[in-house]
Amino acid sequence: MPEPFYVTTAINYPNGRPHIGHAYEAIAADVIARFHRWMGREVRFQTGTDEHGLKMARKAADEGRTPRDLADEMSGHFREMGAVLEIEYERFIRTVEPAHHRASQALWRAMETAGDLYLGRYEGWYSVRDEAYYDESELIPGEGGGRLSPQGTPVEWTVEESWFFRLSAYQDRVLQLLRRPGFCEPESRRNEMIAFVSGGLKDLSISRTSFDWGVPVPGSNGHVMYVWVDALTNYLTGLGYPDDTPEMRRFWPAALHLVGKDIVRFHAVYWPAFLMSAGLPVPQKVFGHGFILNRGEKESKSVGNVTDPIALAERFGTGNLRFFLMREVAFGHDGSYSPEAIVARCNAELANSFGNLVQRTLSMVHKNLNGTVQNYSSLSADDALLEQVRRACKDTLPAAFHELSFNQGIEVWIQAVWACNRYVDEQAPWALRKSDPERMTAVLMTLFRTLRDLAMAIQPVIPREAGQVLDMLGVPSATRRHSDFDADWFSPLVRTSHVIEAPVPVFPRLELAADAAA
Ligand code: ME8
Ligand code: MG
Repeated sequence: MPEPFYVTTAINYPNGRPHIGHAYEAIAADVIARFHRWMGREVRFQTGTDEHGLKMARKAADEGRTPRDLADEMSGHFREMGAVLEIEYERFIRTVEPAHHRASQALWRAMETAGDLYLGRYEGWYSVRDEAYYDESELIPGEGGGRLSPQGTPVEWTVEESWFFRLSAYQDRVLQLLRRPGFCEPESRRNEMIAFVSGGLKDLSISRTSFDWGVPVPGSNGHVMYVWVDALTNYLTGLGYPDDTPEMRRFWPAALHLVGKDIVRFHAVYWPAFLMSAGLPVPQKVFGHGFILNRGEKESKSVGNVTDPIALAERFGTGNLRFFLMREVAFGHDGSYSPEAIVARCNAELANSFGNLVQRTLSMVHKNLNGTVQNYSSLSADDALLEQVRRACKDTLPAAFHELSFNQGIEVWIQAVWACNRYVDEQAPWALRKSDPERMTAVLMTLFRTLRDLAMAIQPVIPREAGQVLDMLGVPSATRRHSDFDADWFSPLVRTSHVIEAPVPVFPRLELAADAAA
């Protein structure tokens, strides 16, 4: 039985259309999911929308519509983004689903049964934008003497009757968990969480009474759950909790919750405490990725630099956007994008390097070898190149991806591509056509083999384009997994006289249209 791997993204607030940060997280999680499928694991990938809470209620009220109406529309745009970005998830969850209400209420009951809930009165600061409570000591000075949350969002003084969760009772166990190697990454986020928990955990207000857009608290009229309680529960709902389903048994605890750096506290502190209280295992890893900035600046409506990721993918191509984001940004750190940077990176590495290698190799096989794949006898230069490419694709890139070091894995891959292009230039197969056709065959067939390895390894990042290359090579779709690296796919092509057609360009050069350079 293949090892199970459950990966999730944060579920997104559908109070507006998706932005580049949502796209980035979806792409990264999809690359992770595809990578593990390729490695032979049984993967379950879940994403969705987080539709309750005051932020949604207020946004809908501003627009004169119901929260449900707003959520229906915007959740649709998140699904559309998933389709455009080629995000291959098993489950898209919406927190308004009845099954999710049921799961959230079951988790609530479990925490109540454990003796961890009590009724009280919350008096303190709340940020609607973050949907988060903050301690007085965490606030930072804002303009004009006001105070802001540590994320720089407005806070309001809130007083209401509320259920509390005995978070303080979990301080030691959460601290121990945070010290477990690999539980919370990257290191910077883990240290931040350790400092936060070491500073003392206060009990957490987990219900609201001043509005009703949420999951009703079971047996407590007028209370709806604090939106983060139901939001976090989505990871269980998708597996069928509270029922004892095959999915629960197979995929819980999650292998990885992928989230942005601003919400690590909810996933690495509150969520494990809720689970411990309910008697459920905690996730294996919480990874807090960095933020994507637009030319170094946070996107915001007031700056006027908000970019629609769907439009971006349509303008530059989904493969190019995916490649750019995974290649350009060191995973875990913040990164920046601009049309110029996308064009420069994708032209240099896809169009002019990998694309050019595919194009010239297959054109020569098509023209000079009548498109036939042939046996050949190799020289040591050929074997050395094959060996370098094989090692990069089979060992180094997977090891890096396993550690979520995508830019490093892609770096090794592009080095291998460059080695192939140098080899083409050195061997100059076009000049061998008349002088030494046997040698030309060996060079072209060596390149043909390297193309297969290179396309195999980059599938998780650019699945459609890598698949097109593998199709042109004639690699059967059933032998494109990591475990197929050593499979003999070449001699069947020789035996069946597989014919290579004139290649169709897969990585066209991008242009920066003058009118769209903003
Ligand atoms: O936080 N770059 O939803 P959300 C990269 N509903 N990632 C970014 C980003 C940026 N510029 N801006 C936001 C929520 N993100 C909650 C989650 S999970 C149980 C509930 C990330 O729509 C952000 O860090 O505000 C989060 O992981 C995700 O986008 C959704 O953010
Ligand atoms: Mg947010």
